[in-house]
Amino acid sequence: MATSTETDFLTEIIQLRHEFHQNPELSNQEFQTTKRITEILTDWQIPIEKTDLDTGLLAVIEGTEPGPTIALRADIDALPIQEQTDIPFKSQNPGVMHACGHDLHLASLLGAAYQLNQQKDSLKGTIKLLFQPAEEVGHGGDQVLDKHVLDGVEAIIGFHNQPDLLVGEIALKSGALMAGCYHFDITIEGKGAHAAQPQNGTDVVVTQAAIVTQLQTIVSRNQDPFHAVVVSVTKVNAGKTWNVLPETATLEGTVRTFNQADTEKAKQRLIQIAKNTAATYNQTATVNWTTGADPINNNEKITNLVKQGLTKKVTQPKLTMTAEDFATFETKIPGTFAFIGSNGAKKAKGVHDPNYKGKDETIKTGIQYFIESAKSVLEGLDK
Ligand code: NI
Repeated sequence: MATSTETDFLTEIIQLRHEFHQNPELSNQEFQTTKRITEILTDWQIPIEKTDLDTGLLAVIEGTEPGPTIALRADIDALPIQEQTDIPFKSQNPGVMHACGHDLHLASLLGAAYQLNQQKDSLKGTIKLLFQPAEEVGHGGDQVLDKHVLDGVEAIIGFHNQPDLLVGEIALKSGALMAGCYHFDITIEGKGAHAAQPQNGTDVVVTQAAIVTQLQTIVSRNQDPFHAVVVSVTKVNAGKTWNVLPETATLEGTVRTFNQADTEKAKQRLIQIAKNTAATYNQTATVNWTTGADPINNNEKITNLVKQGLTKKVTQPKLTMTAEDFATFETKIPGTFAFIGSNGAKKAKGVHDPNYKGKDETIKTGIQYFIESAKSVLEGLDK
């Protein structure tokens, strides 16, 4: 990179961000994105480590002196959304959009990689740069861990942009930050009948409606009122026509919690309500429960080291019921995850919206966050 000033450098990174924004790719299909990141890093003479990942990659910066190994992480995938903004670099891939701002994250990590590589003579230890695939489908983190990409890493650092915070604001805390995300589906089986002769069947639609209503008591009657929990039924299916009572009905939805005990309680009650309600009406219910993401739970030591290293004043983040795949890493590696402001306008749309706009200036803070955190954590773990 032929840069002479800090402004030139930022301009180049912002241009790269525009390029990624124009060419978004869905989870597990980030082939061009991976290829382009590889080209850029190779051009900058930053080594890429060989991994078994199909998409995404790991680069490495070795300090001249030995020390701990840490990882900086950015996600790289986009969403199946048709972009509706009027920005000059809007998506050129129909139906796909960087609507979660992962282009901001990966551009920030590229900027940090370039600068940290320039300073490697003064670094004690190793910094791994993880460009993670498939965050939006919640499996990218598992792929990375299952393929031993982060073996030997002692701390991991990441961030997500937040459109409701002012550009450049860094919000960070230890402990809970984002909820765990769980998916459930329920299949109710009974006996169908002519709609005019309900006495000949067991009517799964009545059971289905009763289960939807009763699931609301998990939050209102079973959980501690001081613990945040969400139970949402989002998909309801039964029947094919108006004059036949169907023999099966299905429900789908999500549960969000901040800790394992609340998750277990919600899961047990959900299974109990579904099965017992079905039994009341002479039917059966089968429940499938899967984990989308664990809660984000920031490690106290790493969070404090990051805070100490940041030149910007850090604000207190608000907890959110949305989830992040970064939590997968935090279950195995001490880590911390911050929010960085990316818009701040009163009417700014949130992420996953076709009108979401993350501002370019976010990248300056993103780069600074990665660089200062990496140095502080390397130093802190070395003591
Ligand atoms: Ni995201």
